[in-house]
Amino acid sequence: MGRKKSYRYKDVRNRERVLFPALCGVDPICLKPSWPVDLLKPEQGVVLELGCGKGEYTLALAERYPEKNFIGVDLKSDRLWVAATKAMEKGLENVWFVRARIDHLSAYFPKNFAEAIWIPFPDPAPGNHSGRKRLTSPRFLEIYRDFLKPCGIVRCKTDHEGLYSFTLDNLFSAGARLRRAVEDLHASDIDDPDIVGIESHFEKEFRKKGISVKFMEFYLE
Ligand SMILES: C[S@@+](CC[C@H](N)C(=O)[O-])C[C@H]1O[C@@H](n2cnc3c(N)ncnc32)[C@H](O)[C@@H]1O
Repeated sequence: MGRKKSYRYKDVRNRERVLFPALCGVDPICLKPSWPVDLLKPEQGVVLELGCGKGEYTLALAERYPEKNFIGVDLKSDRLWVAATKAMEKGLENVWFVRARIDHLSAYFPKNFAEAIWIPFPDPAPGNHSGRKRLTSPRFLEIYRDFLKPCGIVRCKTDHEGLYSFTLDNLFSAGARLRRAVEDLHASDIDDPDIVGIESHFEKEFRKKGISVKFMEFYLE
């Protein structure tokens, strides 16, 4: 591990706004049955970014919607360090980052907690033939259902054709309702600024290479 990365891995524990839930063994914070009110006010709406990396979505949405709460989740501490540092520099008070496995989130988040979930560029996990590790596999959709509000929406962007068709194939058996899906977001008629006007780190990289962005939006009822 490089010096910068290793510094961030250690220093992330000193960053404000990064939470380490109990299962990770560090600074146990019990987020259930409800969040401490000094952390956030769920009645104002909670939006999650899963596999947030450096948190571009969380940060941009938090600036646009200061009345709502935004939580980015990722396992990689060095990326969360970057995200939390930017949140501090921007003075954002409605942003949190949780260093945790997404697989464990139903142990931390209460029911009816989130109104929306963003999954920008989940790992395609090509070697994982059952697809279990993909963040849009039936196993993960079941986990999201645990803390997503009944009318809550999931939005996913990907560069990966395999992950795109895998996700669409799973929706029916997972009892999800597709709202829309497009194979080339930036050539489509979708003009919602939250969808087309915010680009994550991976989205910028793929677009620079001329790779089209696929987009899916569905309800988990
Ligand atoms: C391809 S990166 C995308 C990062 C960011 N969303 C973007 O678009 O720039 C996928 C991210 O998901 C995180 N991730 C994958 N599986 C995870 C899991 N089960 N729990 C927590 N984080 C996970 C990885 O650590 C990584 O940061």
